[in-house]
Amino acid sequence: MPSSSIPITRKPAIETLVGGLLPLLSPFSYPRLPTDYAALLNSRWQKLATGAERLPAKLMAITSQTADSCSLELKPGVGWLGHRAGQFVNVHVNIDGVWHSRCYSISSSDQRRRRLQITVRATADGLVSNYLVHKAVAGERLHISQAQGEFVVPTKALAAPTRQNNTKRKLFITAGSGITPVMGILNSLSGADECEHIHYERDAERFIFSAALGELHQREDNQYSLHEVYTAADGERFSTQQLSAICPDWRQRDVWACGPATLLDALEQHWAEAGLSAQLRTERFQAQTVEVSADAEGGTALFAASGVSAAGAADEALLLVAERAGLKPEHGCRMGICHSCDCTLLAGAVRDLRSGQILNQTGTRIQPCVSAAAGPVQLDL
Ligand SMILES: Cc1cc2nc3c(=O)[nH]c(=O)nc-3n(C[C@H](O)[C@H](O)[C@H](O)COP(=O)(O)OP(=O)(O)OC[C@H]3O[C@@H](n4cnc5c(N)ncnc54)[C@H](O)[C@@H]3O)c2cc1C
Ligand code: FES
Repeated sequence: MPSSSIPITRKPAIETLVGGLLPLLSPFSYPRLPTDYAALLNSRWQKLATGAERLPAKLMAITSQTADSCSLELKPGVGWLGHRAGQFVNVHVNIDGVWHSRCYSISSSDQRRRRLQITVRATADGLVSNYLVHKAVAGERLHISQAQGEFVVPTKALAAPTRQNNTKRKLFITAGSGITPVMGILNSLSGADECEHIHYERDAERFIFSAALGELHQREDNQYSLHEVYTAADGERFSTQQLSAICPDWRQRDVWACGPATLLDALEQHWAEAGLSAQLRTERFQAQTVEVSADAEGGTALFAASGVSAAGAADEALLLVAERAGLKPEHGCRMGICHSCDCTLLAGAVRDLRSGQILNQTGTRIQPCVSAAAGPVQLDL
């Protein structure tokens, strides 16, 4: 493995101390993370909360799940603050001397403080996922961010659930590798929660965690029910009738859903029509963007720190434009949630591809992974 080109930041003693103390405050900070409050007190600690910080992590073990997926056991270095069930980390991997980062949900319990597990499915032609599934070896060194994300559930690792959380039963709807954050949640719940789980998969061979979830379903001492839908064997995709047949009391449940955009769009529409959007939480692995009108203007982007400029289309993320021009900007999720790519707008205007909104105030921090040029633009990249 070629040597690392991006050094891990050495933390001053005070930050190491703060990093060590913060996990102990979790029970008192709910529903926020202790890092959220630390960020308000000191801007240098903000890195802890935004996920821009990189920690070393050692790959301890790899367990095959299906022909195209595996779970990777990671041991984070000093400063790891733990996670809440359902969160994800940015994983930075060195492939042929170049660091690449992608987000992966944590599939292990939030009660495990010194280890975490991620579970990866190799996507067709995907660089990092294929590397992690087919080439990574135990003992390898990676970097990870602190845990991030709002797709979370109160568990016994946190303060006592609120009254509202106590009164609602839970419904999980997942498809494909969208099972991973929900596996992390199920691994973290105490067993007292009444959970219905609908999982969509093309066929049984592709079902990640099928053995573990089958076992959980069979256990008499818990209240978890798994409903598998195999779409290749004429299994119906999500519909209102199907939902009502499997889970008649869905209106009374808090819902966590993760899977492809088509499924999540259908769920959001269904819960909105029922006037119950507040009960549905979704986790997307890809950005939800608006359609950019055909006559919208792109522009030339000047990446001021490197002196490189390149033309970008009206619907083309400036991160892609920079990469096409040979730059290697810092990034993680590529969908506007992790803030690793944040940079400053020095001049001109950008279009936020998630909302269509135009941002043109000089000095605004923007996310080039979800922003396109709206006319000539200058960024401090
Ligand atoms: C919050 C979050 C959590 C995630 N958790 C997990 C997880 O637990 N397990 C997991 O396997 N993946 C997860 N992902 C997806 C993961 O981050 C990568 O996007 C995925 O592994 C593909 O990366 P790659 O380098 O292999 O593909 P790339 O080389 O980046 O892309 C190759 C091709 O695949 C397409 N592609 C990229 N991402 C996806 C995708 N997610 N689905 C379908 N096609 C895609 C691209 O458009 C491109 O054509 C998560 C993503 C986010 C944002
Ligand atoms: S890469 Fe995560 S916000 Fe841009």
